[in-house]
Amino acid sequence: MTNLIAAGIAGTGLCLPERRVTNDELAKVIDTSDEWIIKRTGIRERRWVEDGVQCSDLATGAAREALANAGIKASDLDLIVVGTVSGDCVFPAVACQVQHNLGATCAAFDVNAACTGFLTAMQVGSTHISAGLAKSVLVIGSEALSRMVNKTDRGSAIIFGDGAGAAILQPFDVCGRGEILRSTLGADGSGHDLIALPMGGTRHFHNMDSYVKEDHFIQLKGREVYRFAVQKMAELIRWAMEGIDQDDLCCVIPHQVNQRIIEGALDRLDWDQSKVMVNIDRYGNTSAASVPIALHEALEQGRIQEGKYVVLVAFGAGLTWGGSLLRW
Ligand code: UT7
Repeated sequence: MTNLIAAGIAGTGLCLPERRVTNDELAKVIDTSDEWIIKRTGIRERRWVEDGVQCSDLATGAAREALANAGIKASDLDLIVVGTVSGDCVFPAVACQVQHNLGATCAAFDVNAACTGFLTAMQVGSTHISAGLAKSVLVIGSEALSRMVNKTDRGSAIIFGDGAGAAILQPFDVCGRGEILRSTLGADGSGHDLIALPMGGTRHFHNMDSYVKEDHFIQLKGREVYRFAVQKMAELIRWAMEGIDQDDLCCVIPHQVNQRIIEGALDRLDWDQSKVMVNIDRYGNTSAASVPIALHEALEQGRIQEGKYVVLVAFGAGLTWGGSLLRW
């Protein structure tokens, strides 16, 4: 295809709840241990929102930092897209609340692609730029999943954390950074029941006569997801690296799903972890927020160098997946 406008990343930001929840704190209420969680997941602590803090508050915080880093105002935005599965309400969209909080006036909507939410939002945003429909797009991954986990279920409560990450997309010839060279999205709906929160939709609508407590919380078939995740992460990195010399790559930013899953994928590729950004030890699995949080931290830590390639990959409930190759 010709005449498409390349999109780039003009600035990034993040927002994390203050409250740190250690493995030892969880072990007081769940039959688990710090040792088990570190060994099986790599997680040492995660952040959980305090009472009164919503998904949109985290998203707004990350957006403000991204706007400042890009050097633009909320009034410059043409579109806001938020990837989330833990919005303040079933509807309306978190993106509309963020638009209001920022004082922007542009179009705003959410995408529901679970842990692939940020990459989906980014692809929607970059497509708007490529088509000439927008000049500045705010894309966010934001989650407050601690509100949706059964805090007594050791299979899921230990994994998830809260947080938000954001990026401002602009035409690459305007921002001159983070050029999005190619992207892919995919889904396999036959795995729709592997990670789900049944309650609140039209299938398990609210009915006090048939109340099933478990339906109000995230249900996770961790083992099945584990196998899918290892294979998909390796596949996506391979796709992104096609025709790219490893020496020209500065950083792979994978969804922070589980340290062992990341290692499993790298084993399949015969790679070590030196060029792979991992922060799961501090934040756990923040679903749609994990890639943009890690991207922002990688930039802050100087792990991303001008002219070098960056690979973003994610996968999650749906099942969904996505990948992007960028050049900084
Ligand atoms: O981002 C997308 C959403 N994320 C995911 O879907 C996560 C993907 N899956 C995973 O990260 C891992 O599967 C988990 C961390 C969820 C579980 O780790 P695992 O190594 O796959 O453990 P397992 O489910 O195979 O369980 C092994 C054993 C079981 O005991 P038995 O049956 O062998 O006696 C579990 O009951 O570990 C037990 N177990 C625990 N023990 C202590 C499971 N969870 C815990 C726990 N603490 N928190």
